[in-house]
Amino acid sequence: MLKTRIAVFVSGGGTNLQALIDAQLRGEIPSGEIALVLASNDGAYALTRAEQNNIASVVVKRKNFDTQDAYEAHVKEVMAEHNIDMIVLAGFMSILGEGFTSAYPKRIVNVHPALIPSFCGKGFYGLHVHEAALEYGVKVTGATVHYVNEIPDGGEIILQKAVEILDGDTPEVLQKRVMEEAEWILLPKAVELVAKKLKQ
Ligand code: GAR
Repeated sequence: MLKTRIAVFVSGGGTNLQALIDAQLRGEIPSGEIALVLASNDGAYALTRAEQNNIASVVVKRKNFDTQDAYEAHVKEVMAEHNIDMIVLAGFMSILGEGFTSAYPKRIVNVHPALIPSFCGKGFYGLHVHEAALEYGVKVTGATVHYVNEIPDGGEIILQKAVEILDGDTPEVLQKRVMEEAEWILLPKAVELVAKKLKQ
């Protein structure tokens, strides 16, 4: 049976990529296969994870293109070359505009480390999200996996999970808890849900 071919876009450590690889190895993503890792920079540790697991990888740097259109056109070419059906943004820090997202309706998902619509949109990425949650003083945060459209963090929500904030949390401690208790669990589940839908 044909599987949905998945590209995972990364920029950093790639712990969410690792969660997907581990879930795939456990047989928890039967409808899809991670076919490609695309990194926004060659220092991303996620690239080492791809290599260790024999997953093809490519580095595409925004700064090597004069315009956003040229960058997005190149990424689309790479997707076509690898016959990619579905894209997972897993800590991907480069911006993909409407010219890109509209080419893959309901085929791009993103993991965000907060309960959307809180602490999301422009400027809310990585550790900043947890700093903002602690600064606001919310008692519960979490993670969201959602479809990606032209609105930053604005696409339809697929899965969400709440995580408690504890006294004395630092942004780093909270980030780790949100990853362990929410992101690494939700993302593989959401990827299987979408990969399955795309096969039907
Ligand atoms: C994750 O917490 C992810 O949710 C976040 O960046 C981190 C990447 O970690 N993404 C965003 O903030 C997107 N707005 P990882 O490289 O270890 O998966």
